Amino acid sequence: MRKNVVAGNWKMNTTLQEGVALAKEVNEALCGVTPKCDVVICTPFTHLASVNAVIDTNKLGLGAENCADHKSGAYTGEVSAPMVASTGATYVILGHSERRQYYGETSEILKEKVALALENNLTPIFCIGEVLAEREDGSYNEVVKKQIEEALFHLSAEEFGKIILAYEPVWAIGTGKTATPEQAEDMHAHIRNLIAERYGKEVADNTSILYGGSCKPSNAKELFAKPDIDGGLIGGAALDAASFMGIVTAF
Ligand code: G3P
Repeated sequence: MRKNVVAGNWKMNTTLQEGVALAKEVNEALCGVTPKCDVVICTPFTHLASVNAVIDTNKLGLGAENCADHKSGAYTGEVSAPMVASTGATYVILGHSERRQYYGETSEILKEKVALALENNLTPIFCIGEVLAEREDGSYNEVVKKQIEEALFHLSAEEFGKIILAYEPVWAIGTGKTATPEQAEDMHAHIRNLIAERYGKEVADNTSILYGGSCKPSNAKELFAKPDIDGGLIGGAALDAASFMGIVTAF
C-alpha cells in the first residue's frame, strides 16, 4: 500500500544508551504532531529490543538495518530475520549501498534476504541507486533497472506489494550533494514505470518510493512535493531528533 514514509537509518552510530535516549526524543516529539507520513527509525541490532520498549509503536515504527540471508545456523555473528522480528521490529533495510560496497551484497544474496524478511512479516526498505561514475556516464537508469529486476522482479505482485523502495544515489549519501528534486523525480518515475511494466499500473501506483541521500530539513519539502517521491530514507539528519522531525513535518 502506498504511504508517505520517513525512515531514519542510524547506520553504525550511537551506543545503546545514546540510541535509547534518541528514540525517546523522537517518540516524545511525535506526541505533539500528527505527521502526514509513517515514521520509522532503523537502529543497530543491539538497540532494537531496548528501543522497542521505550517507543509507542503505534506512532513510531522500528526497523533493523540488515538481516542475514539464512534463517538460522552456523553463521557466527549474523542476525537472522526471525531474530529481528523477535525484538518487535517490523521493518528491515536491505540492499543499502554501503552493504553492497563493503560487504559484497549481490542480487542473489538480496533475493534470499527479501524472502526471509517477508516470511517473518518484516517490511523490506529495499535500496537501489547508482554510483557517481554511472551518473556521469548516463547509465544510471539501466543500473537501477538491473538492481530491481535481479533482486525483486521474481516476486509475485502480492509479495512485491509489501516492499518499500528507497532510491539512494550513492554520490549523494553523506556528501551534502543532494540530487536535485528533478533528478530524483526523474528516477522515481523511471522506477515506477518499471514496476508498471512488470506488475501493472495498480501495483506501481501503490508502491512507496523513498528518496535517500543528504535529505535535510532544508530540502525535504521540495523533494517530497514531487509526485513520485513518497518520503525519505534519512542518514545523518536522523541522528538529531529536531533535524529528523524537520523532515518528518516537511509533507
Ligand atoms: O540510508 C540513508 C542514507 O544512506 C542517507 O544518508 O547521511 O546522506 O542522509 P545521508
